[in-house]
Amino acid sequence: MKASIETRADIEKLVTLFYEKVKKDPTIGFIFTEKVQLDWPHHISVITDFWESILLDNPVYQKNAMEVHYDLNKKIPLEKIHFDTWLQLFFCTLDELFEGPITEKAKIRAKSIADLMAFKMQQNKENSSPL
Ligand code: HEM
Repeated sequence: MKASIETRADIEKLVTLFYEKVKKDPTIGFIFTEKVQLDWPHHISVITDFWESILLDNPVYQKNAMEVHYDLNKKIPLEKIHFDTWLQLFFCTLDELFEGPITEKAKIRAKSIADLMAFKMQQNKENSSPL
């Protein structure tokens, strides 16, 4: 039986393994390794805050996650294929490490945020195109 997600340390483990997969991925890896210069320990800590707020009901993430993606969308248009790949890697990392209700909650929330983000990025692209 696999563990359930219970602590910040569990979330950090999830986020760290997720980004190991992301960096190697042929479809979205380059966004994280070439398009944006990331301070990885900082990024992992911010994303851990984000998921800790959602999954453990501890509101340590106070920013607007959508905003950075609008900026990113200008450098590299974020398409459905990118979101599908992001989600597939996130689900696969969750299933590799954990199971249980919080794991299922993580999948549901990730899917709904990714769907909303994909919609907003598309909308933003259409609104900013020259006529
Ligand atoms: C196409 C899919 C995605 C790509 C390529 C992507 C890429 C990135 C990159 C490159 C950053 C770092 C930006 C920077 O610091 O300059 C970032 C930040 C972040 N991403 Fe994503 N992302 C994607 C989808 C998602 C989804 C679906 C979620 C949530 C479920 C998410 C949550 C976040 C959060 C919370 C941050 C930190 C924002 C902050 O600094 O406060 N991302 N993303």
